[in-house]
Amino acid sequence: MEGAAVTIGIDDLPIRDELRGKSPYGAPQLDVPVRLNTNENPYPLPEPLVERIAERVRDAARTLNRYPDRDAVELRTELAAYLTRTTGYEVGLANVWAANGSNEVIQQLLQTFAGPGRIAIGFEPSYSMHGLISRGTGTGWISGPRKGDFTIDVASATAAIATHRPDVVFITSPNNPTGTAVEADTVLALYEAAQAAKPSLVVVDEAYVEFSHRPSLLPLIEGRPNLVVSRTMSKAFGAAGLRLGYLAAHPAVVDAVQLVRLPYHLSAVTQATALAALEHTDTLLGYVEQLKAERDRLVAELRAIGYEVTESDANFVQFGRFEDAHAVWQQILDRGVLVRDNGVPGWLRVTAGTPEENDAFLDAVRALKKEQSS
Ligand SMILES: Cc1ncc(COP(=O)(O)O)c(C=O)c1O
Repeated sequence: MEGAAVTIGIDDLPIRDELRGKSPYGAPQLDVPVRLNTNENPYPLPEPLVERIAERVRDAARTLNRYPDRDAVELRTELAAYLTRTTGYEVGLANVWAANGSNEVIQQLLQTFAGPGRIAIGFEPSYSMHGLISRGTGTGWISGPRKGDFTIDVASATAAIATHRPDVVFITSPNNPTGTAVEADTVLALYEAAQAAKPSLVVVDEAYVEFSHRPSLLPLIEGRPNLVVSRTMSKAFGAAGLRLGYLAAHPAVVDAVQLVRLPYHLSAVTQATALAALEHTDTLLGYVEQLKAERDRLVAELRAIGYEVTESDANFVQFGRFEDAHAVWQQILDRGVLVRDNGVPGWLRVTAGTPEENDAFLDAVRALKKEQSS
């Protein structure tokens, strides 16, 4: 801009007051040999699937002059079939909704059930986007407690629900960044508390459930119209770049989110790609089994080295404890491995990568431990 000697920053713009001074979400993406910081699946999509995506997208391209199927009927039907097959609980098209990543699913739920004058609660440390999307939708945010072992303390969680009477309750299972799975009984207790207090919507975020030792909490939606399970193709399906998330709930919830979704929000290219990936579910779930074994190896080796490790049901592991976790994060980075400092005091998180990446990480922390004890 000519003559623009003055630097204009965000806070010079007439933005909403609650956004002032805030930072956008984002893990540092540093250029290092081994990146184990964003809970991605390390395996690229297999070549036959890449070919199938190309084929499906080519077909979709022939009609890109038209808007996509705004109800994504074929995709939702296939997602419902996947859920039914993998959980044994039967859901159909009417129970399933899809959007651009589970972040968009969560945004649509908050736009529908929360927003200005309403509040949401989560039990932290947990997935920070629940709070950030709440803020973005004008929803108040309450940070609920967790126990020292990072499980949800039912008594204090239900007390917090009774006190704050939230409109939306987030339960993340397995939880990010701790890896902790939530018992069905805990979900039921929080659901009952939330219905007694308001009633409110309970969202069970199962982004990592395919990596869990335990079954999905999806069957709990039976007879509970205010319970939603959100899922994603970003982790188990190895398709973070696709941006496809979905939910399963009572059909009334699916009808409700239509009130806020943008018209034609899910592109024809996205729908075609997701459908191709679903055709290769068995191969992709094979990679999940390898990652689960690698996750278990990380837990065992980290403990053998002398670290404390939180029980993990996800494709990542929380380890500690450190007096200065950020300093340790830097020392691991100096050895060419990027892990995540989520700001949980004393703890860091490492994503399970390929066996070679995990070896590089374990070598780095082993060397570090040796250095510290010498
Ligand atoms: C608990 C949890 N939910 C949702 C997401 C977002 O997934 P998506 O890529 O589907 O938006 C993540 C991503 O890291 C996550 O950790």
